[in-house]
Amino acid sequence: MTQKSQLAQHGLFDAKVPRYTSYPTSPHFNNDVDAGLFSDWVSAIKPNSEISLYIHVPFCRRLCWFCACRTQGTQSDSPVRAYLEVLKSEIKMLGRILPEGVRLSRLHWGGGTPTLLAPDMMAQLAGSIAEIAPFAPDAEFSVEIDPNEIDKARLDALAAAGMNRASIGVQDFDPEIQQTIGRIQSFDITRDAIEMIRARGTSSLNADILYGLPHQTTERMTQSVQKLLSLSPDRVALYGYAHVPWMAKRQQMIPSEALPAPQERLELYDTARKLFLWDKYTEIGIDHFATQTDGLTRAQQAGTLKRNFQGYTDDQSEVLIGLGASSISRFPQGYAQNAAATSVHTKAIRNGQFSTARGHVLRGEDRLRARLIEALMCDFRISSAEILGAFNICDAALQQLYAAASHSFPEMLQISSEGLYIPKHARPLTRMIARSFDAYDLSKAGHSSAI
Ligand SMILES: C[S@@+](CC[C@H](N)C(=O)[O-])C[C@H]1O[C@@H](n2cnc3c(N)ncnc32)[C@H](O)[C@@H]1O
Ligand code: SF4
Repeated sequence: MTQKSQLAQHGLFDAKVPRYTSYPTSPHFNNDVDAGLFSDWVSAIKPNSEISLYIHVPFCRRLCWFCACRTQGTQSDSPVRAYLEVLKSEIKMLGRILPEGVRLSRLHWGGGTPTLLAPDMMAQLAGSIAEIAPFAPDAEFSVEIDPNEIDKARLDALAAAGMNRASIGVQDFDPEIQQTIGRIQSFDITRDAIEMIRARGTSSLNADILYGLPHQTTERMTQSVQKLLSLSPDRVALYGYAHVPWMAKRQQMIPSEALPAPQERLELYDTARKLFLWDKYTEIGIDHFATQTDGLTRAQQAGTLKRNFQGYTDDQSEVLIGLGASSISRFPQGYAQNAAATSVHTKAIRNGQFSTARGHVLRGEDRLRARLIEALMCDFRISSAEILGAFNICDAALQQLYAAASHSFPEMLQISSEGLYIPKHARPLTRMIARSFDAYDLSKAGHSSAI
């Protein structure tokens, strides 16, 4: 049997599964977590510890049709300035309850398009953050940059604020694909943005590209990846295009008949993957590639790779605080998500309250299952010694969990005295295998194609 027909037999081309950037995944969040609990969790952070901070900017100048991110279009600066004031108040409120001596190991500005902030707004935002929590030594400050929405003045402001990592959206270089997904971005604009970013000393550059886009063929994928490689990104996120027009209404502009079939998506992924590997990139988890010296590669080799809401990370902080509309925070106690609508978020902050609307208190087997899933997503293996040492579970119960996964994926998993391992040929099934360790109602859990 070919690898493809084996994968088909296991349902790879039909299944919808979560991306497991958290466990439980956000559709399972409930109303148990409110602003009071969020404040308690912040107050319980260890004094003098290092945490990560995420700031969400839910605005874009253009709204790309393919995009499933939570963002709104605006041509004027006034809603953005108003939102900045809200963010500054929220940061101050956080500062009032943050324990003594807490520093930032990571700061990430995402969106939407954080680079639509004018240079003075960027300086204000960075200044407010620095007032409540300074950077730790070796901190990383990363920003999502739309190459169409950046210029020298804004990059100067970001460099002055300490940005040392940038992430740019590329998606695909092919003009017909760009037209069909409503995102026009010439190669020259992307190259110029990268040159400007690097000229300011930003040491690491990530690029996002997508497979599974309308009109994408393996030839076009090859050309796009080769163009991207000519720009030498340090990291690449190769995401599967999630076509969810019932959730992201903009996607109704995309003709579904032009989308590649699931089997073709696998070929597109494999085509891009081979090109990155030929170019000596290391494969990181299910959808990232990184140079030999990149932090993700080092973390993978050291077994310390982690998964968070932004995807793969080498960040080891146990606390990630998300500020801004819809942002999610992660604490050892659980998850807390802010109100998704900017208006609701704004109202809460103007009333002097955090906008926490939902979340999840970790209980029972949640932490154990979260780690089993994270280990599979990051390392394609579960170490029995690690799990038995870290969690209150006996070997027989762990073996039962392995057996249940193995029963769902016969001949695809290797189980030994060391633990459970997903061999290379079975790795396209990783998210589906991870799902077999998920105890929540799966009908609610995921909307994106398994490949
Ligand atoms: C917030 S956006 C990028 C930042 C910036 N606004 C830009 O467009 O360059 C983050 C990334 O999410 C990914 N993304 C957005 N919609 C997606 C979808 N429907 N399926 C898969 N990935 C998607 C894209 O690769 C995009 O670069
Ligand atoms: S891809 Fe970026 S610029 Fe386009 S709509 Fe999404 S967040 Fe905005």
